[in-house]
Amino acid sequence: MTDEIPPAPTPPFRTERLILRDFREDDFDDVHAYAVDPEVVRYMDWGPNTPEVTRQYLSLALQQQAERPSQVLNLAIEHAAERRVIGSIRLEVKDPANRTADIGYSIHRPYWRQGLVAEGARRLLEVAFRDMGLHRVFATCDARNRGSWRVMEKIGMRREGLLRKANRRRDGWQDTLLYAVLAEEWG
Ligand SMILES: CC(C)(COP(=O)(O)OP(=O)(O)OC[C@H]1O[C@@H](n2cnc3c(N)ncnc32)[C@H](O)[C@@H]1OP(=O)(O)O)[C@@H](O)C(=O)NCCC(=O)NCCS
Repeated sequence: MTDEIPPAPTPPFRTERLILRDFREDDFDDVHAYAVDPEVVRYMDWGPNTPEVTRQYLSLALQQQAERPSQVLNLAIEHAAERRVIGSIRLEVKDPANRTADIGYSIHRPYWRQGLVAEGARRLLEVAFRDMGLHRVFATCDARNRGSWRVMEKIGMRREGLLRKANRRRDGWQDTLLYAVLAEEWG
């Protein structure tokens, strides 16, 4: 039961306000602007970045995107009108036998609460289900990260559970929420 999953299509992917595209070396300043913000990384397992860490992150992303075809999309979120990178979004096949991927995202604080991440994430679900024929896409977040789980709900994911003290954060063991959407529910 391990039929091949088609590789991810080649970016960029457009939405109304965004371009989801490969990172470029000259994105450093834009990426570092959000990666250094303690508010942005509050519930993340990385950051706030030093310039060196952002440089390493960017060079890893450039290396990964050169390795196509791939079942990992780690993309810059470019604001189409402002022509700058405001965040990142990732779709990664985690369990090929079960055609399952996860999704993750973050954007720069001035762009919060405008529905931008949900807009980008919906586009990646289209890639996941329509182009890659996946069966299930899940996402997890710190249970305190309301913005993140609201995005999951807005893109049609359902809450499947609360994993008790499943992640060790900067401030100790914390609960993690698990959300997912199935191909048959999507669209
Ligand atoms: C969490 C995050 C991705 C939300 O993205 P966004 O584009 O602001 O999301 P939306 O505008 O679609 O808002 C989603 C909902 O969350 C709410 N929300 C957004 N940011 C919030 C915050 N900081 N605190 C509480 N609620 C928040 C919005 O009001 C909205 O709620 P509503 O639908 O009930 O009105 C973004 O704030 C972010 O990048 N945060 C830092 C990185 C991060 O935590 N990433 C997720 C890791 S799992």
